[in-house]
Amino acid sequence: MDIIGDIAIVKIPRELLKYKEELGKAVLDTQKKVRAVYQQVQPVSGQHRTRQLELLAGESGTETEHREHGCVYLLDVSQVYFSPRLSHDRKRISGLVGSRETVVNMFAGVGPYSILIAKERPHVQIYSIDINPRAVWYHRVNSRRNKVYDRIRVLQGDARIILRESLVGMADRVLLPYPALSLESLPSAVEGLKTRGWFHIYFHSSYARRQEEALAKAESMVSSRLQNIDVKVLEVHAVHVREVQSRTSQVCVDVELNKTASRT
Ligand SMILES: C[S@@+](CC[C@H](N)C(=O)[O-])C[C@H]1O[C@@H](n2cnc3c(N)ncnc32)[C@H](O)[C@@H]1O
Repeated sequence: MDIIGDIAIVKIPRELLKYKEELGKAVLDTQKKVRAVYQQVQPVSGQHRTRQLELLAGESGTETEHREHGCVYLLDVSQVYFSPRLSHDRKRISGLVGSRETVVNMFAGVGPYSILIAKERPHVQIYSIDINPRAVWYHRVNSRRNKVYDRIRVLQGDARIILRESLVGMADRVLLPYPALSLESLPSAVEGLKTRGWFHIYFHSSYARRQEEALAKAESMVSSRLQNIDVKVLEVHAVHVREVQSRTSQVCVDVELNKTASRT
């Protein structure tokens, strides 16, 4: 179960589906801040990474206000992606950002990484990109609500194109928080980087026995992809973000790289 604002989203195993109304009511009765319980009918899907939801209990309405690390996010859980499970990682990334950096967030959603960074680092400049117009709309609302509107430019479109056309050589740091597209977006991310800087690359990595295997595999995968596009890796470190299925971790690979060292 995920609780986003005052909405609970539950995934019910097939064998328990016949009890879904009772389960919904039980969640509503036991979780005092929850106003509505929705069942996630299918996995998060499509280009916008949205969920199909069915109301099980409580008042209908999928827009809510979620609080995290002192920031507030308005969002519609049926129209945009949001996961409270990434909260810990958002704080970790924000802690890595230098005080006067330019950051590009290629897959920004409603802004939870970008807004936290802008709030904690008053002199950063952030470019947040998302292809989903609803996510962009909520991100702009959230930037205003959290009083960081002057530090974040929110752009709508395909991040790979926007980086190549409008943000060449701008970033000290590029966030790629979308596992399905992060690795194939590396060439565009390199275009957006100054000569030297950091990437934070999210993807899924499986392991046979120990989580550390997934991390080692992820580090060598990123290093070899970057070497293939002629970029020098200065430092690489993978972090476990969350377990996404049995023996598969969502990892974030933090990598520092230099564009000119191997290109000259
Ligand atoms: C997994 S979500 C991550 C959202 C956000 N970083 C967060 O943690 O809430 C991926 C996001 O990428 C967006 N997206 C998908 N393809 C894209 C593309 N080609 N360019 C920019 N954004 C894209 C989706 O609309 C979605 O909001």
